[in-house]
Amino acid sequence: MTNRREFLQKSAIGALTLPLFSFTESQHSLNELKDSSLNDQDYWKLIRKQFALKEDQTYFNNGTMGPTPNYTLQKVIDHMSHYAKHGAEVDYKDGSGPELLSGYFPYQELREKLGAIINADFKEISLTQNATFGMNYVGMGLDLQAGDELLNTNLEHGGGFAVWQLLAKRKGCIYKQATIPIPANDPQEVFDAIFKEVTDKTRVIAIPHIISAYGVVMPVKEICGEARKRGIFTIIDGAQCVGHVKVDVKEIGCDAYYSSLHKWLLAPPGSGLLFIRNDVVGNIWSTIASYNWDNQEDHGFRLMQNGTGNPALITGYDAAVDFYNTVGEDRWIGRIKELGDHLRAGLKQMEHVTIHSSIHDEMCAGITTYSVKGLTGPEVQKIMWEKERLQPRSVGKDLVRHSVHIYNSKNEIEKALKVISELA
Ligand SMILES: Cc1ncc(COP(=O)(O)O)c(C=O)c1O
Repeated sequence: MTNRREFLQKSAIGALTLPLFSFTESQHSLNELKDSSLNDQDYWKLIRKQFALKEDQTYFNNGTMGPTPNYTLQKVIDHMSHYAKHGAEVDYKDGSGPELLSGYFPYQELREKLGAIINADFKEISLTQNATFGMNYVGMGLDLQAGDELLNTNLEHGGGFAVWQLLAKRKGCIYKQATIPIPANDPQEVFDAIFKEVTDKTRVIAIPHIISAYGVVMPVKEICGEARKRGIFTIIDGAQCVGHVKVDVKEIGCDAYYSSLHKWLLAPPGSGLLFIRNDVVGNIWSTIASYNWDNQEDHGFRLMQNGTGNPALITGYDAAVDFYNTVGEDRWIGRIKELGDHLRAGLKQMEHVTIHSSIHDEMCAGITTYSVKGLTGPEVQKIMWEKERLQPRSVGKDLVRHSVHIYNSKNEIEKALKVISELA
């Protein structure tokens, strides 16, 4: 007991492994998803049943938020209700802290699972609330000086540009934007647009892996490779990426990468990750400081010192990763691409529709943004909902951003194509 207590006390201030939670109230299991005798059609029908989304409604807005699968949802609910009832049985000093609160523990097991998905060591990974935290931890943590140039694109989300603009104002850095062509159908053109703005003062290139509004998959590997040769720090906004396209941070060769896993990995809202490459993480100051603010052994842990959070969300985050791994990365990502291609193939046939996303095979996946002649984005969205209970999302005045995911079917896409074709 003494040893266990010592171990667990140390773990509150050091980077040691703690198991996740041991109770199992959940009736939901992943076993039926492991049935390899199912044909493709039956398999995807079974997947659809893993979601509480209503039968007669179609969700096409995963780019904003992924719906939580029942398996994950149940784990979150079980956790909260279990400790609401059994809180008094928890001996905090005995190492049961993670059952009552998150924010102080290293969660090595979960970080290892995430590391296996993005090809990183767990110590290079921090659990964050979302992508925005990742951007801020890196931006605020870098030692930037007046005159350093910080390069964004002109198509950033607020979770991709705001810290760089703040740093320009606060420290006198020079903020620049590269103009990305729309539609972007040539990776070389995108690469050239970035490096046109690079000078010998460029310290940071901060760009999205997938552009929020258009779903364009950027040639980040080529851009990071060239930036590395020039000694420029690269940080990739992958908010839309983990669980959507293959993310291999080593292959991309970026210095930092952040994502929101409540989008395409379907983790509970508030599940993010930040990767910072081992060789450079020592140069990033901690922004939020608590016990481990100066932990030089586990920098990922150092950068996730957030104080008390909801442990049920960590349980749900872990469950979401298990759900993803049970389906399998290739099957999951392949299905999103297949459905995205199906939608684009239909839209391409329609003269009154303009696709603003990429149609280059390597630059498109599950998000397709289009406009319909004579109608605004909100009008198209409204018609789709009123006619068939289909819910894509309008962006800006004219555009509709249409996301597809593994819980969608080709039939739902056909319904959407029919409604859009009738708008001619
Ligand atoms: C490209 C991109 N970056 C950053 C964000 C911000 O994500 P979060 O609000 O989860 O931090 C989003 C959200 O849609 C996004 O699409």
